[in-house]
Amino acid sequence: MRQQIAAANWKMNLTYQQGEQLLDGILNENIELANHQLAVFAVPFPYLTLATQKVSGRKNYLASAQNCSDQKSGAYTGEVAAEMLKSINIRYCVLGHSERREYFSERNQSLAQRVALCLENGITPIFCCGETLSIREVGAQEGYVETQLMESLFHFSEEDIRKMVIAYEPIWAIGTGKTASVGQAQEMHAHIRNLFAKKYNKATANHIPILYGGSVKAANAKELFHSPDVDGGLVGGASLNATEFSSIIRALK
Ligand code: 13P
Repeated sequence: MRQQIAAANWKMNLTYQQGEQLLDGILNENIELANHQLAVFAVPFPYLTLATQKVSGRKNYLASAQNCSDQKSGAYTGEVAAEMLKSINIRYCVLGHSERREYFSERNQSLAQRVALCLENGITPIFCCGETLSIREVGAQEGYVETQLMESLFHFSEEDIRKMVIAYEPIWAIGTGKTASVGQAQEMHAHIRNLFAKKYNKATANHIPILYGGSVKAANAKELFHSPDVDGGLVGGASLNATEFSSIIRALK
């Protein structure tokens, strides 16, 4: 079975102490993950070593960064390089989140460089894509997401592309309480998988986990994850509550 992933995206929330308490709360549930299941915590940079220590020895629990620089190293004050993440044993990194695209002007080209740097450093990118409400209202979402994937990912080799995790996050569903319907999520996930099949091949497309993000919570996770092409979720608000996120982990196929 394809990898199924419950990924928490804390964004810029929680103090160190609150983060520690949250991780303890979730880990104390002792939810055992099957070989194909992963629980990933995308925490702020200063908490990466804490998260790594907390999950160490827990099968298939991992810490993740929320971003990395599009430069290898050098005079880029305030940036964090993929190589630095590797040096503290981080193996996952969220890239191209819509908030990064919107507030920090990250473009498809720069994201392609970040993906390359992650791959060079053995880090799995959790690559985010997704359309705004105005794009969905005119029915242009499939083409929009295709362009995002084409410009950031589709020049990578099949071997590299197989290391990728995709997160489809319709911007209109992020933090709004409006979840895409199961039908809308499944339709876009199938479209994304089909794009990978056309560009690479069916086996590769079937190998890549595609997560859904946008107002995932305990109450809707099971139904969303039940869809054949939805391989888990990238979760914002509900990942900040131990009970909620534990239920979301339990909802994985
Ligand atoms: P919410 O779950 O708060 O809607 O956020 C989704 C998201 O942006 C995860 O990356």
